[in-house]
Amino acid sequence: TVPEVLADLGERPLVIAHRGGKGLWPENTLFAFERAVALGVDMLEMDLHLSQDAELVVIHDDTLERTTNGRGPVAHYSLAELQALDAGYHWTADGGQSYPYRGQGTRIASLREVLEQFPLIPKVVEIKVPDVGMEALLCETLASYDQLDRVLVGSFHERSLKRFRELCPEVATSAGPVSVRLLLALNWLGLSDLLSPSYPVLQIPPQHSGLTLATPRLLRNAQARGLHVQLWTINEQPDMRRLLEMGANGLITDYPDRALQLLGRS
Ligand code: G3P
Ligand code: CA
Repeated sequence: TVPEVLADLGERPLVIAHRGGKGLWPENTLFAFERAVALGVDMLEMDLHLSQDAELVVIHDDTLERTTNGRGPVAHYSLAELQALDAGYHWTADGGQSYPYRGQGTRIASLREVLEQFPLIPKVVEIKVPDVGMEALLCETLASYDQLDRVLVGSFHERSLKRFRELCPEVATSAGPVSVRLLLALNWLGLSDLLSPSYPVLQIPPQHSGLTLATPRLLRNAQARGLHVQLWTINEQPDMRRLLEMGANGLITDYPDRALQLLGRS
């Protein structure tokens, strides 16, 4: 059955803005999410870390150097300290010739801000750090903003997903890494019939370690078991076209403008 978070989106392939569309503007920022929504994406994807004062913050890396003018681990700073940084500092579209967002007031967002500002659009939220209590906090936060049905939760940490599912059974989750490997192995062996997935969404890259994961057979088998297949991170239109023709249910992309154009939605 289609999870609540995807139910309103219908059958069409979904355009999912990876980190808000990191190819187009500074990733994981309110600015990016606002622009992606204006573009007409179906879902916003974002990553979560925990600040020193136990606030959920929207940032991809463990450390601040790549995206901000700060230094060191995210977890060493309070939300207020993190929000004093420039989250557009390193963004460039021309290989470092220019930094158009530097000094423009682009901040790191808290999850609360995202939920307040974007209550309706479905979101893919990724737990980046296991074992620090993010699962319970995420569940409580989503519940307090009445958005348990607006979010799909994913993680590369199987135990984090397991914990989250126990604490927050109302929220849809995507397959964790162990389930993904099992599914791929069964598909490879022609034993997909043995699958009875307990999660509604499969998010995988089309290739991994030199292997092609997204094949017509995998998509067919996964979809026959009720799974919605979203592929990441698809940035070139020929790849987008090929995967859509293969039957992908969603494209997670740094360039949602390209996907929308291809789909005739811009
Ligand atoms: O949805 C999966 C995708 O977001 C994983 O890649 O490293 O950008 O979080 P990453
Ligand atoms: Ca992510």
